[in-house]
Amino acid sequence: MYNIKPRTFDFESVTDISKKQLEEHYKLYTGYVTKLNEIWNTPYIPSNYTDSNATYSKMRSLKLGETYSLNGVKLHNLYFENMTGGSNVPYGPLFNAIINQFSTYDNFISYLTNVGLSMRGWVVLTLDLLDNKLHIIGSDAHDTGAVWLSCPILIMDVYEHAYFMDFGTDRKKYISTFIKNINWSILNDRFKKYVSPINYMDMNQRRYRQYNFLNE
Ligand SMILES: [Fe+2]
Repeated sequence: MYNIKPRTFDFESVTDISKKQLEEHYKLYTGYVTKLNEIWNTPYIPSNYTDSNATYSKMRSLKLGETYSLNGVKLHNLYFENMTGGSNVPYGPLFNAIINQFSTYDNFISYLTNVGLSMRGWVVLTLDLLDNKLHIIGSDAHDTGAVWLSCPILIMDVYEHAYFMDFGTDRKKYISTFIKNINWSILNDRFKKYVSPINYMDMNQRRYRQYNFLNE
């Protein structure tokens, strides 16, 4: 029996985003948790799925709901976590990696902001296992644009529900406010956690390359 619980977050630590805005957003998140439990607790009974079809069927509905709610839960967990708790001054191994790759912090923030203004759902800074580099991925919904084997480090929700109550249509102001609330301690912990698996994957990829499974 699945009984995933919503996590709690220190919304008191967030500056310049109202408690009401954050609480309404949190309600949406708990809805995804509820639906995920409902989906994962649905037993597989073969006789219930005799109509399986890629246009419309019970199984299709279940699987689309599963990826939507599962990503909705994971992305909001990461988002709320990386915008609460303070530690708002950029520092550490992730900051160094950003400077290395994006030349300057301002350049990185400019890129992040423009991706945020261009997408309808999410912006995710990832460490990708294919090239071991940072990438800023844009997504229009929980279940579109996700990249597998790409480790999420910084997550920014740009759905209108994340900011409309406080900022109206001024998404740029919401993005700059979100950036001021980023918890760099959380980001560095995530970054460091992903480096070891990447070293492991890198060894494996080098092995595969010997057999020309990868282009390099
Ligand atoms: Fe959201």
